[in-house]
Amino acid sequence: MNQAAPFEVSPLTPSLGAEIMNVGLWNMDSFFGEIYRSFLRYKIIVIRDMPMSHDQLCEFSARFGELMELPYIKPVEAYPKIIAVQKEVDETGMGVFGGDWHSDFSFLAAPPKASILYSHQIPPLGGDTLWVNMESAYGALPVKQKNWLEGKYVIHTGAPYGVANAPDIETQFQGSMTITRNNPQADRETRHPAVCCHPETGNLALFINPTYTTRFSDMSKAESEPILRELLSHCTRPEFSCRFRWTPNTLVIWDNRSTMHYAVNDYDGYRRLMYRTTISGEPPLPATS
Ligand code: SIN
Repeated sequence: MNQAAPFEVSPLTPSLGAEIMNVGLWNMDSFFGEIYRSFLRYKIIVIRDMPMSHDQLCEFSARFGELMELPYIKPVEAYPKIIAVQKEVDETGMGVFGGDWHSDFSFLAAPPKASILYSHQIPPLGGDTLWVNMESAYGALPVKQKNWLEGKYVIHTGAPYGVANAPDIETQFQGSMTITRNNPQADRETRHPAVCCHPETGNLALFINPTYTTRFSDMSKAESEPILRELLSHCTRPEFSCRFRWTPNTLVIWDNRSTMHYAVNDYDGYRRLMYRTTISGEPPLPATS
């Protein structure tokens, strides 16, 4: 890295994501303000070639807010705020952690503000992550649909960790990660606005996802299902997305309030090892308050 080079931001797609160049732990104090502004603007920021110890990952992550412990997932030994997102060489023919569209832990009363994923070992090909911009997706809806959605609330549950709404066992990744499943506590219903107002930018975003959102609060699952399905297909249009190819020692920070993401499970036979921290958030704000 050229230590004299200026702070530089290079957008990844017109919709979201930006890579930040010429920053490292050594000049983080000078540039963190600009990094944070980029985080709010681009929703996903990438910093490559930044080798980090677990302590450094925690220290860097804490610049974004308070680190949280995650329910249902066993953390790294001696680091309660870090989880290893891991799939081993022999873990073939099974799901992968985060392998469907979701925003992190949206079933919590206060879902995380942001997540930070650091790549330790990646397959030679595959293992990309996709994100979508839920503000762009909301903005592109017809006015009538926006008006309808703004008054609505949706129910979220911890389906993959619960009983009532759990997906098929074959699609639930366990592997070398220790994940608590079949916990009836996870089926508890949490009600969030379908359209949320970002607490820092005031922008409106759809806040639904297929992993944790089960229905509209005033409708049955059967009534909700076709509407949610159509909305989710709209949100995941390529125009709102960014597909990211990892290299080792890369850090990606995403805004969990305005994006969904998806871990691509296309690298059976290879090891992928990432470390993740998660930043506490607030209860989502409705569009109209
Ligand atoms: C996650 O959902 O946090 C995992 C994302 C990934 O492994 O790419």
